[in-house]
Amino acid sequence: MADWSAKNPFMTTISQNFILNGENSRKETRHIVFDLKDSGLEYKAGDALGVVPTCPPELVEQILSSTSFSGDEVVETNLGKCSLREALSERFEIHRVSKKWIGSLAGRAPDTSGPIEAKIVKRTRYSTESGSLIVEWSGEGSGGSLPEGYSEIGTFGENPSVSLDKLISDNDSLEEYIWSRDYVDALRDFGSIGFTPQQLIEGMSRLKPRLYSIASSPEFEKGTVHLTVAIVRYNHHDRDRTGLCTGFMADRCETDSTEVGVYMSPTRSFVLPEDGSKDAIMVGPGTGIAPFRAFLQQREIDNSKGRNWLFFGDWTEEGEYLYKEEMEDWKERGIISKHDLAWSRQGSEKVYVQHLMKRQGEEIWNWIENGAYFYVCGDKQYMAKDVHRTLIEICSDYGSMSIEEAKDFVENGLMKSEKRYLRDVY
Ligand SMILES: Cc1cc2nc3c(=O)[nH]c(=O)nc-3n(C[C@H](O)[C@H](O)[C@H](O)COP(=O)(O)OP(=O)(O)OC[C@H]3O[C@@H](n4cnc5c(N)ncnc54)[C@H](O)[C@@H]3O)c2cc1C
Ligand SMILES: NC(=O)c1ccc[n+]([C@@H]2O[C@H](COP(=O)([O-])OP(=O)(O)OC[C@H]3O[C@@H](n4cnc5c(N)ncnc54)[C@H](OP(=O)(O)O)[C@@H]3O)[C@@H](O)[C@H]2O)c1
Repeated sequence: MADWSAKNPFMTTISQNFILNGENSRKETRHIVFDLKDSGLEYKAGDALGVVPTCPPELVEQILSSTSFSGDEVVETNLGKCSLREALSERFEIHRVSKKWIGSLAGRAPDTSGPIEAKIVKRTRYSTESGSLIVEWSGEGSGGSLPEGYSEIGTFGENPSVSLDKLISDNDSLEEYIWSRDYVDALRDFGSIGFTPQQLIEGMSRLKPRLYSIASSPEFEKGTVHLTVAIVRYNHHDRDRTGLCTGFMADRCETDSTEVGVYMSPTRSFVLPEDGSKDAIMVGPGTGIAPFRAFLQQREIDNSKGRNWLFFGDWTEEGEYLYKEEMEDWKERGIISKHDLAWSRQGSEKVYVQHLMKRQGEEIWNWIENGAYFYVCGDKQYMAKDVHRTLIEICSDYGSMSIEEAKDFVENGLMKSEKRYLRDVY
């Protein structure tokens, strides 16, 4: 297996990138295919792909322009020295302001209780012989002139609703502040504190790769890796924003052209049964379908005799039935033996996958008693917990166990000892 990693990703391109949703859907869930080229990268159904995004160039430029830095200044980062532009583009997460960065302002702010009155009267920029940029300031008001190399972009506390004191002393206010803001917003509010290029990046979160459950079997989709990606988009303070990696893949990766760093994140546990005759129950609403597309492709190619029961769900059949044609085809050909679809925003009643599980509790219990594997993929915070609870209730109802016994059966028996209750949740 090639030695590509988060720190040393393989640079490749996206060969397909299209929206899986129906025309009127309010979601944007994409099918994204990466080319493995000559990487030597290998994977199995159940693995995840690491994707290394870069930051939006317009955000980098706005930060540079609001600090009056050129971007050529050299800064020290955890990965060594680089230009400020490179640091903001590739080494830090500039799309969400970090708590640590706000915290670090405290020691440097001249007066954190409210606006200061320093105003820029004149600013001259010129380069020295050594090539470094000098910024000369003359100012008036209580803030006085700023030291060489510092920048100022307005009046501290430009946003009157924001007081640094409050943010630093009250975690709820800080959480609320950072939730909707990036460094363009933060510099508008606090830029007049003054930064050297190094101070600007100090406290920013290091850029982290994102993991995606692979939606393909390597034997079925040779030389490629397929993903199912929910694009994160939102609008705060009158600006459209995206999640870092989903925005990168959706908006800034040109098919067959933009280089993207990827690496494999193999799973040890979220794997198909070694014995292909074992049945599999798969619960994967939303993007949780991804590894099950891979599993079904693999089970088809292996000609596995075990039955496959798929629980999928999303908002509406018309808008969010991901991979409808493939799924219907698998159903017709008997590769999906049982198929339950939960549409949460179709009728007057919210239908979730666990509601359909509950309706078929007895049959689920029969499959489990018969040695079936039980897989869950998708949202960790709500769905996976509810499905877990429902599974316990089913085992209690049909396996003649108290809830406590069923909990022990599921969590210690199925999950830990037998390793046939497997989850890929995020
Ligand atoms: C093992 C694993 C497998 C995964 N598989 C998949 C997969 O198959 N498909 C998939 O789509 N994802 C998957 N993910 C999630 C994926 O890794 C990313 O977390 C996800 O794509 C978001 O990344 P991002 O960089 O676009 O968003 P980020 O920049 O990381 O932002 C996401 C964060 O934005 C914040 N946010 C969301 N909405 C708002 C809002 N309105 N205002 C302010 N902030 C908001 C939330 O805090 C959210 O956590 C998986 C994760 C793991 C760990
Ligand atoms: N910013 C955006 O535009 C946006 C849009 C969609 C998703 N996301 C985020 O992206 C991630 C992945 O989203 P996704 O597209 O895979 O879909 P998802 O949000 O996980 O939703 C998939 C399905 O699960 C349902 N669901 C919600 N709560 C549930 C619960 N407790 N039990 C069972 N099912 C439940 C949803 O219904 P309901 O939604 O009707 O409750 C929907 O029908 C999630 O973390 C989500 O928050 C962001």
